[in-house]
Amino acid sequence: MTDNKRFLLRRRPEGAPVETDFELVSDAIPAPPAGGFVLHNHFASLDPAQRGWMDDAPSYMPPIALDDPVRATTVGQVHASDHPDYAPGDWVMGLNAIEEYSVVVPDGFTAKVDVSAVDSPSRFLSAFGAVGLTAYFGLLEVAKPQPGETVLVSGAAGAVGSVVGQIAKIHGCRTVGIAGGPDKCARLVERYGYDAAVDYRGKSAEQLADAIREVTPDGANIVFENVGGTVFDAELMNLAKHARIVLCGLISEYNSETKHGARNLWQVLAQEATLHGYLISAYVDRFAEGGAQMAKWIASGEVVMDEDIQHGIDNAYPAFMRLFSGANTGKLILALD
Ligand SMILES: NC(=O)c1ccc[n+]([C@@H]2O[C@H](COP(=O)([O-])OP(=O)(O)OC[C@H]3O[C@@H](n4cnc5c(N)ncnc54)[C@H](OP(=O)(O)O)[C@@H]3O)[C@@H](O)[C@H]2O)c1
Repeated sequence: MTDNKRFLLRRRPEGAPVETDFELVSDAIPAPPAGGFVLHNHFASLDPAQRGWMDDAPSYMPPIALDDPVRATTVGQVHASDHPDYAPGDWVMGLNAIEEYSVVVPDGFTAKVDVSAVDSPSRFLSAFGAVGLTAYFGLLEVAKPQPGETVLVSGAAGAVGSVVGQIAKIHGCRTVGIAGGPDKCARLVERYGYDAAVDYRGKSAEQLADAIREVTPDGANIVFENVGGTVFDAELMNLAKHARIVLCGLISEYNSETKHGARNLWQVLAQEATLHGYLISAYVDRFAEGGAQMAKWIASGEVVMDEDIQHGIDNAYPAFMRLFSGANTGKLILALD
């Protein structure tokens, strides 16, 4: 039987990934390993981080090996098992790969999930997964917002950024979001409750800095950085004294071989700001706590988290590239069935 489609990394991308960096193959459905199980993946998370994992460079995780399927968090059902705690039919999430069936030996990322309480199992890749919790812990534990403070968020219409803005509002902050294009900027205010939105497209760093200043005259107390590049340069020119910067992501740099860097880093010194590199993996032990709070906010409607579901593993490459063109509206997820 050859019906396990797998999306393999065949070549390390140079700059933006091209379709021939990948290959879709069909293998036999594997047998469960001793002490493990085979997971039938229903949804795979498409994340900017995957681009980093494709490079052979020092990082917080080893690179994806060439000819391996592209690493991804997935959620699915146990297909066959040799593990006493995982029975066929159980719903499980974990760090697996973009493939229809994954061989799993449970590790720290593997968790059974209760899908009865959610409208779609994909929720475990968005609101209740690492991405929703990236917003939650990055804002509340790293930045520690105080009522009345101004929170400036880049990539504000995306999965992480949209949630950061809403949690900041719940904590009594003023929120300013930066996103690409008028539609996304309207969405920031109308759907995610941002107090002001700034469109970065078509602006130099200086023009963007001016546009941010117009709506943030006293500077930002917190910068939640998802983008980097000229957007970050512009934000640095708008820091309040003792600002806290959460360095969560630098998506504008992921496809560039020559990194832009931070050209206005001197403002960190001038404003006595704190620049905090942040990885959600530091909070894995607290996922249950964060997930419970997110569940309450989602149920009450205080937080909305949109999903952009693309369909079919054959569509994995164009779906993934939506992250870099900005086509995605909400958490980008690939439905594998
Ligand atoms: N530190 C952690 O543990 C952690 C965990 C999860 C995610 N992250 C980071 O958080 C950031 C957001 O991730 P996400 O999953 O929520 O993705 P997302 O924001 O839903 O999607 C990516 C968005 O980035 C924007 N973008 C892409 N290329 C850009 C460029 N060159 N310049 C400016 N904006 C660009 C696009 O929005 P526009 O249309 O507005 O341009 C795009 O929609 C990423 O940097 C990611 O690496 C970090």
